[in-house]
Amino acid sequence: MSRLQGQNAIVTGAGSGIGRAIACRLAVEGAKVVVNDIKLESAQKTVGIIEELGYVAVASVGDISAEQDINATFEVCEKTYGVCDILVNNAGIVQQKPFVELSVDDWDHMISVHLRGCFLGCKRAVPKMLERKSGVIINIASQLGQIGGVELCHYSAAKAGIIGLTKSMARELSKHGIRVNAVAPGPINTELVMNISQDWRNAKAAELPQGKFGSPEDVAGTVAFLASSDAQIYVGQTLGPNSGDVML
Ligand SMILES: NC(=O)c1ccc[n+]([C@@H]2O[C@H](COP(=O)([O-])OP(=O)(O)OC[C@H]3O[C@@H](n4cnc5c(N)ncnc54)[C@H](O)[C@@H]3O)[C@@H](O)[C@H]2O)c1
Repeated sequence: MSRLQGQNAIVTGAGSGIGRAIACRLAVEGAKVVVNDIKLESAQKTVGIIEELGYVAVASVGDISAEQDINATFEVCEKTYGVCDILVNNAGIVQQKPFVELSVDDWDHMISVHLRGCFLGCKRAVPKMLERKSGVIINIASQLGQIGGVELCHYSAAKAGIIGLTKSMARELSKHGIRVNAVAPGPINTELVMNISQDWRNAKAAELPQGKFGSPEDVAGTVAFLASSDAQIYVGQTLGPNSGDVML
């Protein structure tokens, strides 16, 4: 598997869960990977896993919602490997709260990490991709951005925003050689889902056509496909590794 040989990739929030699986998969497929995370130790752990597999990665600590941190992560990529060819905006958080209990701070923080973070990554990546007339951006949304989620209004709104950003960027930039797509996973077994109540998780698993949550590796396979030339006519799409939960 060397579909991504010669490519440099940045994966945000790659210190655990889906991001870690994406970073590993892109590395196995030949990319040199910058592993961003807000937690340095987590990012370093992912780099260790990739190196143990015999592939190449470097850690970069930073908060994706802070412009200077995102810029620093791109500088690590440019100094270590060269210009970023593949950007995966994956970092995210979750918080479950009834709508009436949501504070303005809850709202701003959720939108900031997901939507602002995604925008900042794209904003830093695109000028260099335009110069080279090539590049791939993959934004990790959620099926909750498509169908909404109870007590997850701010999370769902942020993810819907990411899907809108993806489609608009794809319409504007694909003629310049930049492909922008989104992935909207269903429930995936990671730490993030453990922050949602056990009742919700039991009920959710029972209603899935496949009867079980997906794995981070399932999502990573979708991302690797979108990053590769196998997906060269995928533009502004939102792919759904979701155990059959949402069928569009
Ligand atoms: N797990 C699911 O069921 C599921 C479903 C749909 C979408 N998603 C999305 O997938 C992405 C990854 O989620 P996950 O389940 O792997 O969660 P996770 O909690 O396992 O991993 C998220 C990672 O992002 C990092 N992070 C958080 N805030 C950050 C910030 N501001 N800057 C940089 N890094 C930050 C965390 O430290 C963590 O390592 C998220 O965007 C999430 O919304 C997850």
